[in-house]
Amino acid sequence: MILQNYIYSVLLLTLTIIQSCAATPPAPAEPPRIKEINYEKNIAKNAHRVNIKNSNMGEMARTPVKEKEPKYFREPGVAAAGHYDGRFWLGFVSDEERKSSLKHLIRAWLQWTQSQGIETWLAHGTLLGWWWNNEILPWDTDLDVQVSEATLKTLAESFNLTTWSYNFEQENFQREYLLDINPYWVNRLRGTAANLIDGRWIDKSTGLFIDITGLSQTHGVTRPGVISCKNLHRYKIQEIYPLRDTRFENFKAFVPNSYEKILIKEYRSKAFTVTEFERHEWQPAPGEWVKKTTFQPHRLHRLKNGKFMKIKIEDPRGLEAVPQPTFWQNVWRVWHYW
Ligand SMILES: *[C@@H]1O[C@H](CO)[C@@H](O)[C@H](O)[C@H]1NC(C)=O
Repeated sequence: MILQNYIYSVLLLTLTIIQSCAATPPAPAEPPRIKEINYEKNIAKNAHRVNIKNSNMGEMARTPVKEKEPKYFREPGVAAAGHYDGRFWLGFVSDEERKSSLKHLIRAWLQWTQSQGIETWLAHGTLLGWWWNNEILPWDTDLDVQVSEATLKTLAESFNLTTWSYNFEQENFQREYLLDINPYWVNRLRGTAANLIDGRWIDKSTGLFIDITGLSQTHGVTRPGVISCKNLHRYKIQEIYPLRDTRFENFKAFVPNSYEKILIKEYRSKAFTVTEFERHEWQPAPGEWVKKTTFQPHRLHRLKNGKFMKIKIEDPRGLEAVPQPTFWQNVWRVWHYW
């Protein structure tokens, strides 16, 4: 019996060794080349710029862009409805509905892009949610992804107005999503800021969406190797590539290579340390942001002046929690009780 076990173990060990030798570690992905459509034009334009006398630069920056671009994406003209696409908005959805809609929006986007071989990665608040627990931050109202300029071109030229029928059977959740690419995507500079967003992946039943922005090398001469979106978030190419293969909302997803650097640049390092935000609290045990309840057990304590003061029951300081009078309050008291 013991001999049998022994032989079995040795066999198993040999097998494992053979296996681990056979499985070569995956080669790090080569950073894809950022193909630029306006590359030549940008270089020409920037070369022109740097040759202009420096005294003109400030003035140039203030000169308004001549041709006015109309804003392409529209939101409902209602306060606080900025996170809904105007064409599909039927009213505000409940908190729960918003959360599940956003979760499936991103899943559908990941599923669709991967089915088409389209490269995309998480950005901004969506990336921050990934950092904490691979999920959307529960107070987020929209989602952000980025693509390269080359991918944006492909989306615009071959996939505009794609509708994607999605069926998530485990949750009996069906939706249709629409890809809409801003025709002004071809202008890669900020311009009048009317068209900072290059595309949207829209949930047709609620109007909720993912913002899609492309990154381009806009200043090849003065800032080579730096890519930016039209809202002027700048990244070095090697901060983005090679992308990291990960999971988000239980789907395969990609994030930029230097995600921490990017997040710190955008949100400061407090983004990783603040554990109370937007009426939510980070709970390490389940690894989740949990909504804080507004009710806090307290008792009333009667002060000498007859007024009552709330003291949190679980406050270990007890009565010490009553704030000490300020200097001027003391002065007033001395004067009053003289
Ligand atoms: C995508 O389609 C919409 C609707 O036809 C159109 O308005 C928009 O200009 C198109 N976008 C691009 C990049 O062609």
